[in-house]
Amino acid sequence: MDCFTQLTEAYLSDKSNLFTDALALAGLTEIRKSLVRVCCDGSDSDARSGMSFAALTSGICLANSGLGVVHGFASSLGARYDIPHGVICGTLMPPANEVNVRVLRKNGNAEALRKYATLGRLFLDRKEGSDDFFIDGFIDRLYSISEEIKLPGLKTAGADEIDFEMIVKNTECKNNPVRLSFEELLEILQRRYF
Ligand SMILES: [Fe+2]
Repeated sequence: MDCFTQLTEAYLSDKSNLFTDALALAGLTEIRKSLVRVCCDGSDSDARSGMSFAALTSGICLANSGLGVVHGFASSLGARYDIPHGVICGTLMPPANEVNVRVLRKNGNAEALRKYATLGRLFLDRKEGSDDFFIDGFIDRLYSISEEIKLPGLKTAGADEIDFEMIVKNTECKNNPVRLSFEELLEILQRRYF
């Protein structure tokens, strides 16, 4: 999930470029094929090879394009609690991207929304549909993946909501495609508390 998050955030980054976009989409294609498979069966060597390629591309992409708000939380939450980095990233991916999309739609950021639609086309088994259909479908797929691989909420993982305001104050949006407010950041944490 760390690798999936790194590819997604580098692709959506306000510093992304044609080179990192091409690499990120290649890595995400392998994520789509391999992530759930490898979590269900660690001896699946084809799936492990796919994840290996995705991990490599995610490192190259993040080094050149930066990351987004989920990795902002990975720093602030990771400094406070002994929760695995991939669990923080994975469990916050669905609500963080859902809030991103909501704010991008409000602000009318066509370029970032087009990229979210591209992610939906990559992850959904459908060819026909509007950009909005694929954007919403991508967010739904993030939630279903987190259920399929049984990612815990933040409380189960060891976080305490009493710290959330302090954590939000120490969270950077990094190269997220949109700046999020204190309230929006707090909402992301609260949505994945249980
Ligand atoms: Fe990471």
